[in-house]
Amino acid sequence: MSNNRVTRRQFLTYSLTGVGGFMAAGMLMPMVRFAVDPILQTKEEGEFVLTSQKVAEITDAPVKVDFSYEQTDGWYKSEVSDSAWVYKEGDQIIALSPVCKHLGCTVNWASNSDHPDQFFCACHAGRYEKTGVNVKGTPPLGPLDQYEVDEKDGFIMLGKKIANTHS
Ligand code: FES
Repeated sequence: MSNNRVTRRQFLTYSLTGVGGFMAAGMLMPMVRFAVDPILQTKEEGEFVLTSQKVAEITDAPVKVDFSYEQTDGWYKSEVSDSAWVYKEGDQIIALSPVCKHLGCTVNWASNSDHPDQFFCACHAGRYEKTGVNVKGTPPLGPLDQYEVDEKDGFIMLGKKIANTHS
C-alpha cells in the first residue's frame, strides 16, 4: 500500500479550501470589476454635441449658443451646461469659448460701447478681437479657445476645445 494516500482530513481540507476560494472569487470579482470600471471604459475621442443653432442663421456677427452634455468623472455622471460664441468667417464657422484667458470670467460680444466690435470681459476690462485674439495692453495674456465645429441636418455641432487658429 502506498504512503501517498490522502487522508479523510486532508481531503476535507482541500475540498473546503477549493470551494471557499471559488466562492470568495465569485464575490470579489464584481467588486474588483466595479473598482476598475472607469479605467476600462474606452474614451470616445472627437465626440460632438448637437446644438439647437441652425447653420443657416449664422452670420458674421457672433451669437451665443448654449449647449449641454453629459460628463463622466470616474463613477459620477453629471449634466454640464456650456456656451460658445459662433459666427461665420467666409464659408467657415468659428466657435469661440466664452471663458476669459485672464481669470476665467465670461466674455460677451459688443457689451462695451467703446469697443462694439470686440469681445469684452467685464471683470477686469479684458478685450479680444472678433477672432478671439486678445487685445494687447488688456489683462488677458492669450486668445480665447476655439471649439471644433461640425454640422448635422443643418444644425451646429461642437466638439472639443482647441487652440485658437487665429493666433
Ligand atoms: S477675468 Fe477677464 S479680464 Fe480678468
